[in-house]
Amino acid sequence: MKFFIDTANVEDIKKANDMGVICGVTTNPSLIAKEGRNFEEVIAEIASIVDGPISGEVKATTVDAEGMIAEGREIAKIHPNMVVKIPMTVEGLKACKVLTEEGIKTNVTLIFTAAQALLAARAGATYVSPFLGRLDDISVRGVDLISEISEIFNVAGLDTEIICASVRNPIHVTDCALAGADIATVPYGVIEQMTKHPLTTEGIAKFQADYKAVFGE
Ligand code: E4P
Repeated sequence: MKFFIDTANVEDIKKANDMGVICGVTTNPSLIAKEGRNFEEVIAEIASIVDGPISGEVKATTVDAEGMIAEGREIAKIHPNMVVKIPMTVEGLKACKVLTEEGIKTNVTLIFTAAQALLAARAGATYVSPFLGRLDDISVRGVDLISEISEIFNVAGLDTEIICASVRNPIHVTDCALAGADIATVPYGVIEQMTKHPLTTEGIAKFQADYKAVFGE
């Protein structure tokens, strides 16, 4: 399973990129709004940092296929690595089909059932984004959805990739890797949490103390 970072914050993107662990970025309208910056400007800056797929979502207020298609074409022009993120609706599926036929990569988002994922894949989506954490929030096991989609795509021979989204903690990451996700898109805070273990911290402190006791600073 590969890692994308789920943010529009360029400082966090630079830190994760320097760690060498990410190969793509996902954003959404909430994450863009949080930065309070012009969409095209922030997306272009992200694309200059990470050499991999960058998901930029159509405007949250655009609900018709024609509007999503027009915006998707503009997003695709920002950089060759752009992926157009489209909400899982009837209009979104129509837009996905047209953009796919034009050779534009798509990420169908807000997936909460395997049936939605299957529809998106059949409409030609490059990626589907099932939201693990938001299902857990309502006491539905999000990881079960990832397993179901993975099994269905394998049985049907679909090459649409599964991006596990709404990842909230390191256990989510290992759960979705075991469930067959191709990619997990992870906020920087969770990537940092994943690096840590109390025994690692304790071990470093002991190595330092033992070394200093004999050799000094
Ligand atoms: C997916 O691409 C979304 O940007 C994101 O993962 C949603 O996460 P949240 O449920 O923590 O907002």
